[in-house]
Amino acid sequence: MVGMTADATLAPPMPGTLAIGPHTVSPPVVLAPMAGITNAPFRTLCREFSGGKGLFVSEMITTRALVERNEKTMHLIHFDATETPRSIQLYGVDPVTVGKAVRMIVDEDLADHIDLNFGCPVPKVTRKGGGSALPFKRNLLRAILREAVGNAGELPVTIKMRKGIDDDHLTYLDAGRIAVDEGVTAVALHGRTAAQHYGGTADWDAIARLKEHVPEIPVLGNGDIWCADDAVRMMRETGCDGVVVGRGCLGRPWLFGDLVAAFEPGGDRTPAAPDFGQVAVVMRRHAELLGRWIGDEARGVIDFRKHVPWYTKGFAVGSELRRALATASSLAELDDSLGALDHDQPWPAHADGPRGRTAAGKRVVLPDGWLDDPYTCAALSEDAEADTSGG
Ligand SMILES: Cc1cc2nc3c(=O)[nH]c(=O)nc-3n(C[C@H](O)[C@H](O)[C@H](O)COP(=O)(O)O)c2cc1C
Repeated sequence: MVGMTADATLAPPMPGTLAIGPHTVSPPVVLAPMAGITNAPFRTLCREFSGGKGLFVSEMITTRALVERNEKTMHLIHFDATETPRSIQLYGVDPVTVGKAVRMIVDEDLADHIDLNFGCPVPKVTRKGGGSALPFKRNLLRAILREAVGNAGELPVTIKMRKGIDDDHLTYLDAGRIAVDEGVTAVALHGRTAAQHYGGTADWDAIARLKEHVPEIPVLGNGDIWCADDAVRMMRETGCDGVVVGRGCLGRPWLFGDLVAAFEPGGDRTPAAPDFGQVAVVMRRHAELLGRWIGDEARGVIDFRKHVPWYTKGFAVGSELRRALATASSLAELDDSLGALDHDQPWPAHADGPRGRTAAGKRVVLPDGWLDDPYTCAALSEDAEADTSGG
């Protein structure tokens, strides 16, 4: 068992630099792709807190929609002019389409780094053999990676995956080896199986095992980093080369400031503890950035609504005010509600723990006979790329 030793927590943080192909990521901290969340405004906010340090991955983009130049998809791949390197996550199930999407990104200079999603556990994806179900079919995984890397030119291609379908069908070690064989630059492992969804705790031992298994390329650890101390601890305990941070930054984009501080010499791992007034300022900025990005203030404020419970988690907010925040449809309405919050309320320490999705999974839904043979598989149907909610 990877130790939760006092030593690891007390030891000084390690200096860290991560190479993703030509890109130096220092500190070795990556914003996890999160569908519906890690769009350009959210990445901007996180980068403002990190001083531009780290790597910030886009929402998941389906390769078919990209190749077909779907209007919404073309908007989703928008990067702020100051964003560098530009990092896109792709989701695809068909080697040829993945290859075309990667080629399009290269030819049209749409990004500087491509990550491939093999971690999505949602039934509508795994039912078709996509996401976290896909690495079980070793040859299909290999074919997709070959097309991706083969079309990527100088662009680094990384993959993000889960441990496997369930404890009886682990795939991450084979997938890591296939990734090395096919020239993938780095692998990220979310230490859960698809069956777990977001339940239980992430298995950091698996991250350590993957690191031993594929020493040739950087391994990024993912799962249950709620504060900067967790990030440092994961690196020390697993030997991974970098960390990928997801739910911990929902409603807490300043976590990236904490992460940068923790990896600096002297490593300050004290979490930021903004009072409600300071949180309100960040909320306002987030909503405003969304409106500017969408090109419509009201739609920006409406999209922002889903972030309200995360930003306000643990603070005392009356039910009426909470409702007003969650139903605001203009910046003026949002300002009224934000102005009415008790700005002096200190950061609620108990809000530092888990947030976002935490539910355990049920059964992993798979195509008929999927587990009969890990190697062969018919081409996956086109609707395996129907729009998904990531994960
Ligand atoms: C709302 C939400 C959306 C997600 N979307 C994606 C996605 O599009 N692609 C992906 O690879 N992972 C996605 N994930 C999974 C995260 O990237 C990450 O692997 C997972 O949350 C575990 O990390 P954490 O414990 O730091 O949150 C999503 C997670 C959440 C909560």
